[in-house]
Amino acid sequence: MVKRILITGGMGFIGKNLIKNLTNKNNNYQIIIIDNLSNSKISDIKNFSNFYIMKYPKRVIKKKKGIYFYKGDIENKKLLSIVLKNVDTLVHLAANTGVEISILNPTKDLKKNILATVQLLELSRKYKIKKFIFSSSNAVIGNYGKKIDENSPTKPVNQYGVSKLSAEFYINAYNKLYNIKTVILRFSNVYGPGSSNKNNIIPLFIKKLLKNDICFVHGDGLQTRDFVYIDDLCSAIIKCIKNNKISGKTFQIGSGKQTTILNLSKIIAKRISKINNFPAIIKHAKSRKGDVRVNYSNINRAKEILSWQPNTSLHTGINKTINYFTNEKKI
Ligand SMILES: NC(=O)c1ccc[n+]([C@@H]2O[C@H](COP(=O)([O-])OP(=O)(O)OC[C@H]3O[C@@H](n4cnc5c(N)ncnc54)[C@H](O)[C@@H]3O)[C@@H](O)[C@H]2O)c1
Repeated sequence: MVKRILITGGMGFIGKNLIKNLTNKNNNYQIIIIDNLSNSKISDIKNFSNFYIMKYPKRVIKKKKGIYFYKGDIENKKLLSIVLKNVDTLVHLAANTGVEISILNPTKDLKKNILATVQLLELSRKYKIKKFIFSSSNAVIGNYGKKIDENSPTKPVNQYGVSKLSAEFYINAYNKLYNIKTVILRFSNVYGPGSSNKNNIIPLFIKKLLKNDICFVHGDGLQTRDFVYIDDLCSAIIKCIKNNKISGKTFQIGSGKQTTILNLSKIIAKRISKINNFPAIIKHAKSRKGDVRVNYSNINRAKEILSWQPNTSLHTGINKTINYFTNEKKI
């Protein structure tokens, strides 16, 4: 039987890769996307087979395979009420995704990341959605200084982390109160092909170094992050879509390994120097206030319960990402 999946923010970096991974194995999915295109374009995805642009308020009626895109905001209750009918699984990716923008405009962050999520939960309850999968972040933890697991204390140090943590609390409450099957996935730093709309460290360094611009590592560069390759992350989301037993669970999804920013920048610089036939230049800049020193995930729970594990080494993933930026930018 065709399974109907609604992906909010499905045109973004993670969303379009998830759709690619969901549809390339001849699975029986009808995928509905709601995205306001505030940080994405249709161009990357419109060549996928069976892709339809829907004119709201037209409804997807039959459970037919295909990808159905509605341009709209997750705050649009009328639109959500139309598309949520008969949805089996909701993957909630749409959000204000950056720390900087959350600091610049905290009330917008609150509206998009907390209020809109609560509205989605309310409608999910009303329309009896079977499963609600939420994209959270290691930002809910803050400056812990050690490897993070699902029981690490949550002390976010910026508005983005606060909004993701608040959403997590609401989701857990809806799971307890209404028995909606919920899954919270705390992503570490996701990277890979399809990230041209992103400006976090890997796409930013690749874009700049390919243009022979100088890149700056803040402080000594020994601060660590956990970089998870996009296809590995998507396979974790798909495990959650397919698993009908898990409910009310939170999982850390990362590579499980820490990499210093200095080491990461050297890997990227070495590869791009070869491509450009010109030395890529990385310099040090002042350290940033509030920069988290150690950030990486313990992924044992996801390994045990979801039978999931990441397979892509950082070198392989970086090469694939650079190829994406140097070739046709096709995911
Ligand atoms: N990329 C990462 O490293 C990372 C890490 C941790 C958590 N996350 C979370 O994963 C999710 C997806 O991230 P991404 O990297 O794909 O981001 P992205 O910005 O590439 O994608 C987000 C998509 O949501 C859309 N969108 C934003 N606000 C919307 C709204 N109000 N209504 C409808 N559409 C809206 C944007 O147009 C975009 O297409 C986000 O919730 C993000 O917070 C990402």
